[in-house]
Order: sequence, then structure tokens, then C-alpha cells
Amino acid sequence: MTLTAPATTRAGIVPGLDRIAFGGDYNPEQWPREVWDDDIKLMTEIGVNLVSVGIFSWVLLEPREGQFDFAWLDDVFDRLHAAGIGVSLGTPTASPPAWFWKQHPDARPVTRDGIPLGFGSRGMMSPSAPAYAAACERIVTALAERYGTHPALRLWHVHNEYGAPVSESYDTHSVDAFRVWLAKRYGTLEHLNDAWGTAFWGQRYGEWDEIDAPRRAATTVNPAQRLDFARFTSDALLACFVRERDILHRLSPGIPVTTNFMATSCPAMDYWKWAREVDIVSNDHYLTGERRDAHVLLAMDADMTRSLAAGKPWLLMEHSTSAVNWQDRNIAKRPGELERNSLSHWARGADGILFFQWRASRSGAEKFHSAIVPHQGAQSRIFTEAAELGRHLGDLRDALGTRVHARAAILWDWESFWAQDLEWRPSKDLSHRRQIENYYTWLWQLGLTVDFAHPEADLASYDLVLAPSLYLMSEAAAANVESFVRAGGTLIAGYFSGIVGVHDNVPAAPLPHGLSAVLGLSIDEFAPLRSGETADLSNGLSGTVWTDLLTATSARTIATYTTGPAAGGAAITRNTLGAGSAWYVSTELDPDGLASALAPALEDARIRADSAREPQLEHITRLGDDVAYEVYLNHTDRTLRLQTDGTDAVSGEPVGGETEIAAGGTRIIRHPIQ
Ligand code: GAL
Repeated sequence: MTLTAPATTRAGIVPGLDRIAFGGDYNPEQWPREVWDDDIKLMTEIGVNLVSVGIFSWVLLEPREGQFDFAWLDDVFDRLHAAGIGVSLGTPTASPPAWFWKQHPDARPVTRDGIPLGFGSRGMMSPSAPAYAAACERIVTALAERYGTHPALRLWHVHNEYGAPVSESYDTHSVDAFRVWLAKRYGTLEHLNDAWGTAFWGQRYGEWDEIDAPRRAATTVNPAQRLDFARFTSDALLACFVRERDILHRLSPGIPVTTNFMATSCPAMDYWKWAREVDIVSNDHYLTGERRDAHVLLAMDADMTRSLAAGKPWLLMEHSTSAVNWQDRNIAKRPGELERNSLSHWARGADGILFFQWRASRSGAEKFHSAIVPHQGAQSRIFTEAAELGRHLGDLRDALGTRVHARAAILWDWESFWAQDLEWRPSKDLSHRRQIENYYTWLWQLGLTVDFAHPEADLASYDLVLAPSLYLMSEAAAANVESFVRAGGTLIAGYFSGIVGVHDNVPAAPLPHGLSAVLGLSIDEFAPLRSGETADLSNGLSGTVWTDLLTATSARTIATYTTGPAAGGAAITRNTLGAGSAWYVSTELDPDGLASALAPALEDARIRADSAREPQLEHITRLGDDVAYEVYLNHTDRTLRLQTDGTDAVSGEPVGGETEIAAGGTRIIRHPIQ
């Protein structure tokens, strides 16, 4: 496949912004008016052009049911507008007021153990409670009527991180709504009984109102019921978003509506469905500070967000300037890390870099969270670095709308993850997340940009598709993957993939049911390993967690097991089908093991990997119609050198021949393309 530049537009992702969006959550209600003056002055100084306000302000805006007070927000809007700063207006529905909870205790979420959650926090409600729906409609309508056509308004930011910190609710309203959802999905109880396999353990239902949410029971609960409850929960929360969005579209035409995702870190929302409903995909990402490879996980999250946006530019709605406050140990960012993190998101398609939050709070749960203006004020390292980033993003204005091109995609399906994460699987050491991280890290170290794709999505633009962990596969997904291979693609599948159908049922077909013909093998028996046990392979590698006893039907064995329960049997196989090839790795290998075992699979995909490159020099390309931006992020503490020609996109200086990238530093080189 040759690299062709996708068509681009040089407009900002947020209408009315002709530069990369830069700013963050702004909570002026926590501060006296004189601080607001200072805020606006500093924002102007460093090029802030978009701030999110009002996200948790419901009680200030509606202090009593139906009584509104907009005076303070009018003032905020006017000040920001006068300074030329755009507003992303939050709908405050993640934090209903105390008066609401006093009147409607039935709207509180209930845990699987039956505990109703109390007030005093945020992000909690039964998505199906009628009183919550009515209260949301009232406040959102009032906000849209007041600010829907305000000249400073650029974007609607609905709610905050749907699904976090609570997603499933076992309250009465949710149970009623679950039954309605099931009736719509299955039509008849007979179909439901069949899909859920209720013949097992005598669970057959004779009336719809016998069905409950899968609350805590004596032992494991029907897995198909739990899987459907997970699907229902994502849909119920999505309906909350759509209800608000539709009001905003009606009363505030032309202003895009988004809600902030947590791409790879919210286990409860099926974002493939959600992404279809937002006008702009936006995402929140926080480093897992203790992990030395946190920057790789950041890249993975950004690649996932771009994939949700179907390749279009997206908005990084939140990240941190330095430490967060909610991890076990909150690791401060090192000098330069704020810029590297931000540019990694930008390089992977973000046309807006926003932070939580503008000014560090002095009270409340998040007072130890970093901000653009930390407690130390503007005379601080963090503010200086944020200001520098603001300048650099300003210099990148011409790159607005450029796109990222990936030749490889990892299959990702929330439904499969929900199903696999249920109890009573063949090994508690199974982890789809760890498997995906292993495969992603292998490709990241090679400098290969990767998309994520739903297993039923069109895969034709990819040379390489990976299914590191795809436990649940629909028939459509299986057919899709098979046609990808037949048409000349290269597939790499990891163990415990293609095991169940959409009802968490094992189909009457050889395992892996969706992949047996493609991989040219069948699995006779799973042979998971004991804790800490390894299985050696004939190629010198060692696997962990899993092995299979398998029969190769048409596949060629690439490596066998020399120890472990599958000793003597195939460990890694390659099959050809049509014009393509399909690889199977039946054990868990770390990224280095994958690199060594799967180099020939990359050759199958005609992907040339430079094994001599410095793996910690992140390299991503953004492409315009006639220009490429090569982004280099040096994650080492050494100066690195590379050969490149073009113009430094930040300084505007010409670059030719050997170019240096300082320890921990970044370079963006712009060059023309055909
Ligand atoms: C996000 C949330 C923000 C803030 C931030 C702190 O999940 O949306 O409101 O709490 O975390 O890291």
C-alpha cells in the first residue's frame, strides 16, 4: 500500500476557532471576582482560546427547583467573550443538587450489593429515573435558551464522563427499564430464554416481570444476563446523552455537542455506539503515573480516540499538567513531559489540547490535583511549561485538519471485554487489556501507528489486523475477518479469541468458532498454566498464562511447545487463505517476545520495520494534502539524532541532514509531499 495523503480541511475542529484549541476546565465559581480578572489576563497571555465552564454548577444555576440564577455565568461569558476566549459550556447533569436528592432519593444509583449511594460526591444517578430525566431537561433547556446563541459559545460539553465513577445501577427504575430493553431486543420470552440458556440451573422465565437485574446472588449469575445488563447500561446512559443533545441541537443550532469519553479506560461504555451520536469526539486521558510505560498507554488511548472519531480530528478535553490526586501515588510530571504528552495527543489527531483544570482548587476533593495555574501561581515551572505549549500550538495552526494514516488495526470490542471479564473463565490470569497492551507496545516500539477497529468494521484499508484478545465474536465479525484475510490481509490472533457468540454461548462449531477456518486449526482443549508457570517454545521464547492443545488442519507450525501441558504441540501457527495469511499465537508473549516471533508476519503484511531504531523515540506523521508533519518525541534522557529534511514547524528554521532532539524534548518537522 502506498502512502497517500487524505483530504484535509484547514478549519479548526470547533467552529469559530481557527487555531488548535488550548485551555481547560475553568471553575470561576470557586474564586472571588478579583481572581477572575487575573485568570482572564493570564489566559490571554498564554493563548488560551477555549475553556469549559459550568460542568458542576447545577446548584448555583438552579439553587431551588425551577428557580434560576444566571447572573454569575452571564458575567463569566461576557468577560471571556470580551477577551476573545471561546466557551465550551457544560451541562451540569453529572452533579445534581442536594435539593434534588432530598426530593428524589429513588433516583440514587444502587450497587450490585443493593446499597443506594449517598450524596456528597458526583457522577452518580440512576440513568433510568424519571425525576432525573425531568430535572435534566429543565436545566439543559434553561441553559440552552440563555446561552445557546451567545457569541462566545463554541461547544456544548454534556455531563461529565458518563459511566464514571458509577455505571451500572440496580435500582427499581433501572430494573423496569432493563425489562423494556430486553423485550425490545428479544421480542418474546422464548427468544430470551433461548439466548440466555435458562435451561441451565432451572432459570426459565414465564413472565417479563420475573426478570431482575443480575444483582449479587448465591453464586455466579447467568453470564448472558450479565452481558445484556452491561449492554443495557451503556445504552441507558447513552439515552441520557441523546436526550440532552437533542435539546441543545434544537435550541442552539450550529453549535456542536460533545461529551468527554475515557477512550480505553472506561470499561462500561460501548464507545463505538457513542461515537456515532456526538458531533465531535472528545476524550479525557490521565497518565498512570507509576507505570514507566505510561506514555505508551497514552499513545494507545489517543489512537483509540482517533479511531472512535473515524480518523477525523478530535479534542483532548482533559489531561493534567502534572500529578493527579486520585492514584495511589500521584507522580509529578518531569520537565518537558507536559509538552511531550500534549504533542503525542496532537500527533495522533487531537486538534485541541485542554487540561483539567485552569486554576488549582484550594478546597474540596481535588485540591492536590495539578492545574495550569498551580497553588504557587503563574511564577511556577508548570505555568511556564503550559505557556510554552500554548505558543507552540499557536505555531502549529497551519496543521489544523491534517490526518493520521495507519496500516495496522487492533480489533477492540467492549461487548467482548464485558463477556470475558465475567466469572468462571478457564483462568483468572486472563486479561484482554494486558494482551492488547502487549501487542500495542510491540508495534509502538517499532514506530508503527495503529488504529483500533470494531470487528465488524470495514478493514479494507489495513494491511495488518490484530485480534490479541477477542473472546466474543459475532458471525458478522467472523465473516468480516475472513474476507479481510482472503482479500490479501494479514491477521494475527491471540489466544482465547473466537470462543463465544453474542450471547456468551459456545457455538456448535470447532473452536475457535469464528476463526477456525481462517487460522487453519482447531482447539481440542484449553491448557492454561499455573500461576507463575511458563511454557517454553522451540524458538527460544517462553509463554505465560495460557497454552492450547490444538490440531493444525491447514496451518503450518512455526513454533512448538517444548515444555508445559502442550509440549510437542503447536504454539505459533501460520495459515494461508485466499491471498492473505493468518497467524495464531496460543500463549502470552511480552512485547519483546512478540517482536521476535512475529517479525515474519510483518513481512507478510509488507510492513518494513526498522529494528535498529531507538524504540523510545516516538515518531508519528500527520498528513495534509501537500504537507507532512513528522513528530518526534524523545522519551529518553539522552540527546538523539536523526537524518531529516524540512522546516522546524515550531521555530520555522530550515532543518537539513542530522537533526538533534534534546533529552526529553520534541521536534516537529514539516516537509512537502507529492
Ligand atoms: C476527570 C474528571 C475531572 C477531574 C479529573 C481529575 O476524570 O472529569 O472533573 O476530576 O478527572 O483528574
